[in-house]
Amino acid sequence: MQKFNIAIDGPAGAGKSTVARMVAGALGFIYVDTGGMYRAVTWKVLQEGLNPEQTADVIAVARRLEIELQPRPDGQQVWVDGVDVTKWIRSAEVNGYVSKIASIGEVRQILVTKQKRLATAKGVVMDGRDIGTQVLPDAELKIFLTASVHKRAERRFKEMQDGGDRDATLQQLEQDIARRDQMDQEREISPLVRADDALLIDSTTMSIPEVVDAILGLCRDKAGGGK
Ligand code: DC
Repeated sequence: MQKFNIAIDGPAGAGKSTVARMVAGALGFIYVDTGGMYRAVTWKVLQEGLNPEQTADVIAVARRLEIELQPRPDGQQVWVDGVDVTKWIRSAEVNGYVSKIASIGEVRQILVTKQKRLATAKGVVMDGRDIGTQVLPDAELKIFLTASVHKRAERRFKEMQDGGDRDATLQQLEQDIARRDQMDQEREISPLVRADDALLIDSTTMSIPEVVDAILGLCRDKAGGGK
């Protein structure tokens, strides 16, 4: 299939990363998880003992750190200044600060520039919050993937239980997801919105393979004479 770019946006826990990785794998495209880049900046700020509320310090970190994304069959590895931080960027501490850091305009500018560069050769499946609107407004296929807050919390709860993490209750996860949705949707710069030309997929009652199949069907339509 000829290479083109796919933008997948949506709220936390909608299954974007799993779906994007599987679609990329099926098409032989490269998967880029942009949330991992915001998480990498957050991890570095915390690791350096800086205060995430000090915007100037956060921007300086975003400017100087080197982020490398390495696609792997089971996801994307994230390296910061030569260190593999893939596991660390998913910590509760990073979760707690990442929305704040992602709301800083200069941080977004720096990361969006890197993201655009990653997609210039086409054949990229990129997931995030502003991919269809800001990063790849010309993406050949745009998907807005969502699901109810309850369903998203349930999925995360199961993931955590399966991984042996039994600290959080379903109710806490629901609250956490609702809070992050609100921050991502209400922030002034690049809020989470569906691009006018993005196709909406509500996965509340769909399995991951069903969502992947639906997107691959759209890709085939595109390759078969669409835009
Ligand atoms: O998808 P995720 O949970 O790894 O994203 C982490 C945070 O980064 C979340 O608060 C939303 C933000 N983010 C963003 O603002 N823009 C993106 N393109 C990707 C993520």
